[in-house]
Amino acid sequence: MGDIQTDVLIIGTGPAGSATAALLSSYGVANMVVNRYRWLANTPRAHITNQRAMEVLRDLGPEVEAEAMMHASPQEIMGENVFCESLAGEEIGRMKSWGTHPLSKAEHLMSSPCFMNDLPQTFMEPILFKTACARGTQARMSTEYLSHVQDDDGVTTTCRDRLSGKEFTVRSKYLVGADGGNSLVAEHLGLPYEGRMGVGGSMNILFRADLSKYVAHRPSVLYWVMQPGADVGGIGMGLVRMVRPWNEWLIVWGYDINQPPPDVTPEFATGVARQLIGDPDLEIELLGANTWTVNNCFATNLQKGRVFVMGDAAHRHPPSNGLGSNTSIQDGFNLAWKLAMVVKGEAGPGLLDSYTAERAPIARQIVTRANQSIGEFGPIFEALGMDGGVDHDKIRRNMDARADATPAAEAQREALRQAIAFKKYEFDAHGVEMNQRYRSSAAVTDGEPEPAFPADRELHYAPTTWPGARLPHVWVFDRAGRKVSTLDLCGRGAFTLLTGVGGEAWVAAAEAVGAELGLTIRTHVIGPRRPLEDHLGDWARASEVRDGGCVLVRPDHHVAWRSKALAAAPAAELRRVLVSILAR
Ligand code: FDA
Repeated sequence: MGDIQTDVLIIGTGPAGSATAALLSSYGVANMVVNRYRWLANTPRAHITNQRAMEVLRDLGPEVEAEAMMHASPQEIMGENVFCESLAGEEIGRMKSWGTHPLSKAEHLMSSPCFMNDLPQTFMEPILFKTACARGTQARMSTEYLSHVQDDDGVTTTCRDRLSGKEFTVRSKYLVGADGGNSLVAEHLGLPYEGRMGVGGSMNILFRADLSKYVAHRPSVLYWVMQPGADVGGIGMGLVRMVRPWNEWLIVWGYDINQPPPDVTPEFATGVARQLIGDPDLEIELLGANTWTVNNCFATNLQKGRVFVMGDAAHRHPPSNGLGSNTSIQDGFNLAWKLAMVVKGEAGPGLLDSYTAERAPIARQIVTRANQSIGEFGPIFEALGMDGGVDHDKIRRNMDARADATPAAEAQREALRQAIAFKKYEFDAHGVEMNQRYRSSAAVTDGEPEPAFPADRELHYAPTTWPGARLPHVWVFDRAGRKVSTLDLCGRGAFTLLTGVGGEAWVAAAEAVGAELGLTIRTHVIGPRRPLEDHLGDWARASEVRDGGCVLVRPDHHVAWRSKALAAAPAAELRRVLVSILAR
């Protein structure tokens, strides 16, 4: 027995822990979250917030999504993605990114009811944390996780109150380690990891300065500064990142990981800012500076018994592609409904095994992609002639050569254009963000093979209702003619069955099976003179089943199972599938 009892104890109030707490409280599960510090993120690390993460916030409630959008910089100003010699100096090239290219924008609009945006972590965490606490989460700040032991019935965790120095224990049914890249929970579990930590060094310099005159006409969240001497380790060059348009900024600058981290004094920070912005008289209001390491490391198993890890505890990688916080929130969306159903007795503990099966491949994929994206700056350096050592005069000559009227310079310009365009795998990789398809016991395919990706799977989202894939978003219409996203029909902690004209037997089956299993199964019939209509015909195209068929959707919007047509015994089919998924 512990001093305090709860169903789920979460270590960490970062994007992973706060999202999981908010979801569990929304599902009515008792939970407690601890954070070793007195407050949430104090630096705006994560910022690029993708559509899939926003769908999780939307699932928490329209007011949660709206609050995020109120604080976010909108997508329209995110994406000129400038490469330059300094902000005041010559521009080398740019690429439209983060869904702002007209073609990419169309794909974004067709894929989700939500918008990509730039929401610094200092805004995202309070929104998630507040939602959690308002809905029932017990939060203990200045409280440090020390150790845990688990047995057949639960987990006893020892924490220290950092204000009083007193230790206390928490007894929970489950423990979640959302305790970041140096996760002690993961270490205590002895989870297997692949890859390496500390492959590069970077420093962050956070400051205020009005830089409107350099940027407002080419709005972007990222300005990449390529100048002789700016290519030290880490992220590969100098990065000036917008935090708030256009007066709050974060410079990311590499340092040699083989040397001790530099002491980032105000003088040093001001010097770096002046150099990258290209204004020797610039005055900045320094808000903070810190160093961090670039990691390339992921867990291949995310759980042991009653203990789970998520977020950076499971996947440790550089900020390239902006995947960290997004994936952390999505880890929570995957695990929370499973924990809720097991705690409520709606599912057997076997359901929880699908967490590693589904999220470990994502951890591997995003860590690999983020690190590959760093390497893919290489061709830009090569095209500019910046790759041949540290002779700054030679680099200067090579960079200048691209303006010459010679065949060699023309080839150099072409190489540069191609190298910049190739960076879409970092700055416009919609497929990486949206194509997560799960293979596990919690998605029943009945042997149907996975559909191929018609286009590059990293760049383009390919909607499908193949079980394991995220339910495609299309707009359908209620009786008043108002548009409703298919994703809005689902989620909020419950399974949902979507069917059409002639599929009414599925509705009766869902009621009967739900009553038998003690489960809420929401149902929607889509078609003429039904509660929802498919005026645009988009659902008919996207559902990949006949009108009398059905698509069964999990609480996390992923397809659990589908039937192409009405089954001979719908209740028996639904029962078979749910008993299997829920490990009953
Ligand atoms: P996170 O590290 O945020 O939180 C861990 C929590 O655990 C904290 O509350 C901490 O106090 C607590 N904790 C740790 N040990 C504890 C203990 N023993 N006891 C109690 N509490 C403990 N991502 C993204 O999606 N888009 C982006 O654009 C960027 N950009 C970006 C830029 C830069 C410069 C960096 C450094 C990082 C990013 N990221 C990003 C990555 C993102 O910041 C990161 O992936 C998330 O913060 C991870 O969230 P977690 O909740 O997993 O851990």
